[in-house]
Amino acid sequence: MKQFNINTFVRNNILELQPYISFRDHNEFTAPVLLDTNENPFGAFNRYPDSTQKKLKNKLAALKEIAPDQIAIGNGSDELIDLIIKIFCEPKKDSILMMNPSFAMYGFYAAINENSVVRLDLDENFEIVKDDFIKITDELQLKVFFLCSPNNPTGNSVEDIEFYIRNFKGIVVVDEAYIEFSDQKSCIGLLEKYPNLIVLQTFSKAWGMAGARVGTAYASKEIITLINTVKAPYNINSLSQELIIKALDEQGEFDKNVKEILNERNRLKEEFEKIECIVKVYSTDANFFLVEFNDVEKVYDSLLKQEILTSKRAPSILNCIRINIGNKEENNTLIATLKSITS
Ligand SMILES: Cc1ncc(COP(=O)(O)O)c(C=O)c1O
Repeated sequence: MKQFNINTFVRNNILELQPYISFRDHNEFTAPVLLDTNENPFGAFNRYPDSTQKKLKNKLAALKEIAPDQIAIGNGSDELIDLIIKIFCEPKKDSILMMNPSFAMYGFYAAINENSVVRLDLDENFEIVKDDFIKITDELQLKVFFLCSPNNPTGNSVEDIEFYIRNFKGIVVVDEAYIEFSDQKSCIGLLEKYPNLIVLQTFSKAWGMAGARVGTAYASKEIITLINTVKAPYNINSLSQELIIKALDEQGEFDKNVKEILNERNRLKEEFEKIECIVKVYSTDANFFLVEFNDVEKVYDSLLKQEILTSKRAPSILNCIRINIGNKEENNTLIATLKSITS
């Protein structure tokens, strides 16, 4: 993509914004007396967190082999989705594009910002139809395309993802919330080639830290500067920053847990195939299955009666429930309950 100027995609009011700069976070001190932000001198958590999340970004930069100024940290990737829409989409004027079905929050944040949502229907295997994509992008002016890969709630990855990044005439966000469960390569490696690309990842899924609320965006330095300009200065609290740094230092725990979930994924797939009330199990690259049942209401209600919570996708995905992979014991409870449901 030649002569790409990100500023032509950005809302004018955002280009004019002066970011809030925390002086202490942008300068080096040895033993400062901190009398600059009206904090309380007493208490264990009396200080504001590092607004630039320096330590965390340096760790991630080494891990992902990318420059620290190509990383933005959000209060979950949810916050980053919201900020991306706010940066690029003029309320009441611009539209976003998303796959259908896909992660609902893209549409939710677009609606809050008063942007319309164009839905690109997936085919019966939950794949994008390239001709439909080309037609829609030729006919409509679209600002941001949210590509979710592996996709929630279908579980499959987008095939030939570079085709969409290359051919979309706007910003492409590849949401890789579940990438660590898949064999697919991250799109972070494509950032040099495509200045319109933003890759989202999260600590909520494979890292098992949904409660810490930390998501990451990887993009060009220019896009990351824009995200840092619009984010709340102290969006990631001190505890969460520390927890994530500690988790990154203990990669062994992460590897062990992901392996266990993948083992359980294989086991569950085999078990599901033997269960009478199941019609189809879609293949998955994520930590959940999309499962079709012959009587979805009965199955969902029976599970709920046993306090087994799942995510009913019917009627929008006909007869389907999305089921998260739990630990061995939880999965055994699920299997036993499903086996007890007769059609
Ligand atoms: C595809 C996708 N993106 C983003 C998120 C949000 O993640 P976070 O917890 O980082 O806000 C989810 C959560 O379910 C998701 O499925």
